[in-house]
Amino acid sequence: MVQPRLNVGMVGLGLAARAHAEGYAGDPRAELVAVCDVDEERAQRFAAERGVSKVYTSYEEMLGDPVIDAVDIATPTFLHSTMTVQAARAGKHVHCEKPFCRSVSEGMEAVTAARENGVKLVVGETYVFITSHMKARELIEAGEIGQPLQIRQRHGAWMERQDGIAYSIPPDRNWRIDPVRSGGGKYAWIYDHAVHFFATAEYLMLDLPVDEVYAVASVAGGQSKGTGAAHDPYTTAEVDIPIITWRYDDPAHQGVWMRAERLNGKYDFMRGFSTIVIGDKGMIEVLGEGGDNLLWQGEQQHLVLHREGRDTLCFRFDEGGDDIWQSDICYYSQGHVNQVHHFIDCIATDTEPRYGGEDGVHAVQCTLAAIQSAQSGRPVRVDEVQPYDTAYDLCSP
Ligand SMILES: NC(=O)c1ccc[n+]([C@@H]2O[C@H](COP(=O)([O-])OP(=O)(O)OC[C@H]3O[C@@H](n4cnc5c(N)ncnc54)[C@H](O)[C@@H]3O)[C@@H](O)[C@H]2O)c1
Repeated sequence: MVQPRLNVGMVGLGLAARAHAEGYAGDPRAELVAVCDVDEERAQRFAAERGVSKVYTSYEEMLGDPVIDAVDIATPTFLHSTMTVQAARAGKHVHCEKPFCRSVSEGMEAVTAARENGVKLVVGETYVFITSHMKARELIEAGEIGQPLQIRQRHGAWMERQDGIAYSIPPDRNWRIDPVRSGGGKYAWIYDHAVHFFATAEYLMLDLPVDEVYAVASVAGGQSKGTGAAHDPYTTAEVDIPIITWRYDDPAHQGVWMRAERLNGKYDFMRGFSTIVIGDKGMIEVLGEGGDNLLWQGEQQHLVLHREGRDTLCFRFDEGGDDIWQSDICYYSQGHVNQVHHFIDCIATDTEPRYGGEDGVHAVQCTLAAIQSAQSGRPVRVDEVQPYDTAYDLCSP
């Protein structure tokens, strides 16, 4: 039987939306039929560039359109859960950007709404959909490094393209440093990013849950804070979390994430996000978002697999240029395309997403544990985070 085409409406037409739109354009099973943004000029331009016929400035009106089967939510973080609840109640499937919520209770309300209304809910956690990470997971599942025991993540300044920027970002992105709208209190950058780190930490540890988190807080130390990643206005951070450590459910497993980039004035030769997974028979080093300078015998690689007593294997994932993230790494845009295609698959085949609402809530809970740890100076168990805890309440004077 030929499946009917999935009609999608997208809301929030900033940076992330551009990458999602590529995903719908590349899958004949779906079509972007409507877009919505409070900035009407932006919405009209976005629609005209992609041949989208319907333009809305009200999300509620778009949800009332019976032609639409699914929505793609790429608005600022504070709107994610509410918009998911509204969509579920209108009977629309949801693909929603991360961080999925600002508290566990906010996120679980959206999970419940999706369940009660029988719609699919995929959280766009790009770090579990980029090809380099998926390949790393495949190699770990195949036993190439034995039992994975330790994860070491690092975050340096992004590798940026030098050949001009092919997109325009919205003029007002202050929500990213606003304590409440970002969800992160005074740790807005960490809040926006740590969900990625915890998702990766569990994905590459074969889904072992993170159990306890300890975060080191720091101040800028007099160095220039620079401008952070090129597209982000994170210039005002007074405090910083440069190091997070964690233990998994099984305490034989542990992980660490470390940051050195222009945001806090520290230099790191490795660019962007990279992860080392240590096993009892080998190790994998892999590049993620904006990553660069993973060298093996002088050659740039995207994934290097070292195995005890066997040859080292190297992998590259040359999936085309990246004109959205300003990064020379070529597969980050493809991660967004992969997650959108997975969303379409879940609906077409009526299967459960491999990264759903509860996963998105759990990553937020780990992130809140990290912020509580930075504030209190002690390790915090993930299950100590209460349903209504938020980073902005915790950080308010
Ligand atoms: N997965 C990733 O790699 C990735 C990358 C970038 C951003 N993100 C996430 O995507 C989300 C959006 O980030 P961004 O950088 O694209 O933001 P942005 O500021 O570039 O764009 C947000 C857009 O939403 C619109 N908007 C705001 N309120 C609205 C409303 N009520 N109704 C309709 N439109 C509204 C704004 O006008 C703007 O065009 C964030 O949660 C961010 O964390 C994820």
